[in-house]
Amino acid sequence: AFEVELATTGKTLTVAADQKLIDVVRKVVPSVPFSCEQGYCGSCETGVLAGIPLHRDQLLTEDERACNDTMMICVGRSRSPKLVLDI
Ligand code: FES
Repeated sequence: AFEVELATTGKTLTVAADQKLIDVVRKVVPSVPFSCEQGYCGSCETGVLAGIPLHRDQLLTEDERACNDTMMICVGRSRSPKLVLDI
């Protein structure tokens, strides 16, 4: 499990091992954009303000991954105990 802080709402949520990050975010922000939910359309791309994302999408280049400043939250998770998302 890891924690996710939603910067614009100030809420911190826990993402359990069997939960998708986007599903947890959606509980607080129902309007979060998404389409494919499989990491290839880019609809759910979200800025990362702190923490190290675990990228599982098909979209970002190696350089973009290394920057750790954006992620697809439909498939991505976290390498660090906490992520802060720009949402
Ligand atoms: Fe398509 Fe996340 S919803 S990449």
